[in-house]
Amino acid sequence: MSDLGVIENGSVWVSHGQITAVGASDDVEHDAETIIDCSGKTVMPGFVDPHTHLVFAGSREKELGMKLRGMTYMEILQSGGGILSTVKATREASKEQLLEQSRKRMDTMMCFGTTTTEAKSGYGLDKETELKMLEVIKELDTAHPMDIVPTFLGAHAIPEEYAGRSEDYIKSLIDLLPEIKEKELAEFCDVFCEDGAFSLEESKYLLLAAKDLGLGAKIHADEIKNLGGSSLAAELGAISAEHLAVTSEDDMKAMAEVGVIGLLLPATPYSLMQNQYADARKMIEIGVPIALATDLNPNCWTESMQFIISLACYKMKMTPEEAIVAATINAAFAIDRAEKVGSIEVGKQADLIILDVPNYGHIPYRFGVNHVETVIKSGRIVVG
Ligand code: NIG
Ligand code: FE
Repeated sequence: MSDLGVIENGSVWVSHGQITAVGASDDVEHDAETIIDCSGKTVMPGFVDPHTHLVFAGSREKELGMKLRGMTYMEILQSGGGILSTVKATREASKEQLLEQSRKRMDTMMCFGTTTTEAKSGYGLDKETELKMLEVIKELDTAHPMDIVPTFLGAHAIPEEYAGRSEDYIKSLIDLLPEIKEKELAEFCDVFCEDGAFSLEESKYLLLAAKDLGLGAKIHADEIKNLGGSSLAAELGAISAEHLAVTSEDDMKAMAEVGVIGLLLPATPYSLMQNQYADARKMIEIGVPIALATDLNPNCWTESMQFIISLACYKMKMTPEEAIVAATINAAFAIDRAEKVGSIEVGKQADLIILDVPNYGHIPYRFGVNHVETVIKSGRIVVG
């Protein structure tokens, strides 16, 4: 994670949407239809954002006041706010409204350099709205230049209709899985394994059913309380365990052994005014591959992977090199897209960004602004 393979005075050659050559400028042909002079700038792979809840209706800026008065995330949720208030707004929104609001966020993500993103359902919590969200994700993937990898997160919270009957709710989700699979509406199934959300047993039950159908497994694990979610990820061969603010060393070892990606979301504790960030240094020492994501959602609303890279360095003591690897190639691994995106390599999709900085060290160092000047998606200039 500490080697970026930087080429000073390099060139990238793109043809038919793919990278066909990369190397020192002197070694790469220069007779192209379009030439972009990047002198004094930094060219790198487009960011991959592997954990987002980008489709939702409404906003929750009022919760900032509640947080300032000392209410915790779970207290806000239990008082009918948090995820449940977004569920209400999302159920009420039409498909067109969801498309419109989500498209706008994707435009912002792309301006900030993200070229591939994951997106989760999970603000429907009933069959109709979960399917509506997944259909919106599918339409956005076609309509927007960015690529989206869809995840089914019906197990995001217990809907009010199922209060006290979480097992029945999990069963209803399992009944929905074949339709999701058949219509190709999701590649992964995710679950919020947490006190007040879903237990370890419920999480396992759901993810085993998803795996049986050929869906990949992801887990929101160890965000507030450690229920054993990250060790479960290792046991099930999940592609990633996500959040990991309170993961133990034993869990990390279990993850490292089977290569579960630790998907860290430093904007979440930031937005919750918490001081407990995932122990990235310990994970790297133990050999857990790390990826980074925004966790874009109405509680933690940022579209900027540049901000995440900054937080990773300043709050989790990752080096700029580690943070950039985690926001590109490792992030691509976390959504099973490493064959196609996440690095500048011959044969990969030409997803490139040009930043107006003399070297990558400026990305975390100069935070809160957008350094991305040009975005190229599949060989086409989409920003700049
Ligand atoms: O990953 N922790 C659970 N789910 C989301 C937040 C969703 C919300 O608050 O709307 C997360 O942080
Ligand atoms: Fe999340």
